[in-house]
Amino acid sequence: MALLDIKGLRQRFGGVAALDGADVSVEQGRITGLIGPNGAGKTTLFNAVTGALRPDSGTVTFDGTDITGWRPDRLAEIGLSRTFQIARGLAQLTVIENLMLYGKRQQGETFCAAVLRGKAVRAREEELRGRAIEVARELDIIHVGDNRAIDLSGGQKKLLELGRALMAAPKLIMLDEPAAGINPTLAKKLGEHILALKVRGLTFLIVEHNMGLVAALCDHVVVLAQGKRLAEGRFAELRADRRVQDIYMGHRA
Ligand SMILES: Nc1ncnc2c1ncn2[C@@H]1O[C@H](COP(=O)(O)OP(=O)(O)OP(=O)(O)O)[C@@H](O)[C@H]1O
Ligand SMILES: [Mg+2]
Repeated sequence: MALLDIKGLRQRFGGVAALDGADVSVEQGRITGLIGPNGAGKTTLFNAVTGALRPDSGTVTFDGTDITGWRPDRLAEIGLSRTFQIARGLAQLTVIENLMLYGKRQQGETFCAAVLRGKAVRAREEELRGRAIEVARELDIIHVGDNRAIDLSGGQKKLLELGRALMAAPKLIMLDEPAAGINPTLAKKLGEHILALKVRGLTFLIVEHNMGLVAALCDHVVVLAQGKRLAEGRFAELRADRRVQDIYMGHRA
């Protein structure tokens, strides 16, 4: 059984069928790539799965649970995270503070906990700080842990975005164009971190236009065109697929 199984997902914007019955499944422990031309519906699919949009129809199953239309905080609780660009307001916070903001919400906060608030909050903060330091170490951004997010390099910002997704201790991380706007050296480094996380047992669904990175990272690739799955397989197979070349690679492969 797939960890994430998307079936017949539809999403319209006025007259545009951004998703027109999309089927995508993501196997546990793999890095799955989602590629396709501009406007194919890749970001819409992410938004419809992660609670930013409510799909018109179709089902999304995660780890055996129907999660169609769930809100992002509930998704994070069952282990599905996605990355977001660092919002302007948070750019003034440090790396560690940014990570702490995205820690898993305290389970079972009760009346008793509320009574003991002072103590509980302090203990919680220490725990979150510990986890944030662990994540920053893992991603090699611990040396800039006390720097403001706004002062980070482009590559470090991408690592911080990944780190925020990791704070929720996810099973699956969805990344929309993780390498966009960073140079090839940093993209390669980001790719190495993603591979290391996969070795540790994490599963990924990645939208990416950088085909070198898709080839290097992805175990399996799904091609989306006009809101539907056109083809899927290993990247090398897809490169040789005439239909894929026609819609996506313009016969370059
Ligand atoms: N909020 C919205 N309102 C109206 N139309 C939208 C909205 N979001 C996306 N669309 C349309 O839906 C279609 C799919 O867009 P989407 O952003 O999902 O494509 P994409 O595959 O992510 O493309 P890219 O590779 O350029 O990021 C496009 O025609 C786009 O114009
Ligand atoms: Mg997009």
